[in-house]
Amino acid sequence: MTDKKIILTGDRPTGRLHLGHYVGSLKNRVLMQEAGDYDQMYIMIADSQALTDNFDNPGKIRENLIEVALDYLSVGIDPNKVTIFVQSQIEELTELTFYFLNLVTLSRLERNPTVKSEIKLRGFETSLPAGFLIYPVSQAADILLFDANIIPVGVDQEPMLEQAREIARSFNSIYGEIFTEPKAVLPENETARRMPGIDGNAKMSKSLGNAIYLADDKKTLKKKVMSMFTDPDHINIDDPGKVEGNVVFTYLDVFSNESHFQKYLPEYKNLEELKAHYRKGGLGDVKVKKFLIKVLEEELEPIRQRRADYEANIDKVVDILQKGSEKARKVGRQKVNQVKKAMGIDYFSDDKFLKEMENKYNK
Ligand code: TRP
Repeated sequence: MTDKKIILTGDRPTGRLHLGHYVGSLKNRVLMQEAGDYDQMYIMIADSQALTDNFDNPGKIRENLIEVALDYLSVGIDPNKVTIFVQSQIEELTELTFYFLNLVTLSRLERNPTVKSEIKLRGFETSLPAGFLIYPVSQAADILLFDANIIPVGVDQEPMLEQAREIARSFNSIYGEIFTEPKAVLPENETARRMPGIDGNAKMSKSLGNAIYLADDKKTLKKKVMSMFTDPDHINIDDPGKVEGNVVFTYLDVFSNESHFQKYLPEYKNLEELKAHYRKGGLGDVKVKKFLIKVLEEELEPIRQRRADYEANIDKVVDILQKGSEKARKVGRQKVNQVKKAMGIDYFSDDKFLKEMENKYNK
């Protein structure tokens, strides 16, 4: 149990991070980091979890480990303030997962709605790897090993948090008050929850090929914005246009502010005025797209710069992950020792146990 504020989040290293990740969580992590209202903040690269559905393609995970670390560092995650670590390097996580598995039933695991839909998505219905079904238990360990109680995640992770709370409760009632129940912190802004893809699909994702990556260069960004889905009925400039469901405007909703207008589009005071003109007719997509490119460039250029700096010093990045993992292991070891003590299986450092045995057998 802890009364400290401990933040923990994680990502599966299955690909580079995109604007959806940035808006939905990375940006918020940087804000939390800078606000400093916490005792510890951890970010975990969940490579072991990624292996539960990529076990036959470990190369993909291996390739993306450093990519994801670069994404973190380039958006401004500061390794002096945040412990970045690699899940597979923390043996204590595996240890804790094994004990937690006693506290959940198969039917409870099968009821997890996120896992249920992922099983369908991956075609695991007829041949379900046990490791995949139990990954929520391992995720509970990710959180509980570090006494983390503030977990900034997307809504799809709420069932994982529920399961972690149940496991904490169950452990505490059997073995004593060891774990703190974690809470999800969901993104506040509705638009920020889910950035649509550039094709208008509600979800930006690698598999749909509709993502803008943090690592995209200027030329790629420009090409992607120019190809963005707008209003298919807005054919001639003079036609009235729709801003709802128009990806260019959705992005402007998230990223633009009045100072962007002053700088790049002074004939409009703010986004409302731009929208009004678009709705009325007489404003072409290209002009709006060009504005969006400038707005996004302002956000992405410093990220690219930082990325380039770290790429030129990749040994530094590896060192950050190694040091972070060493630190996490130390914390984790202490917790597992505490857990084993609570469970009565820390035999060789348990004086009471040794004495009991002596009394029992050495009369
Ligand atoms: N399941 C999370 C995702 O897919 C990643 C994750 C693993 C995680 N362990 C975690 C998130 C612990 C928060 C806390 O995004």
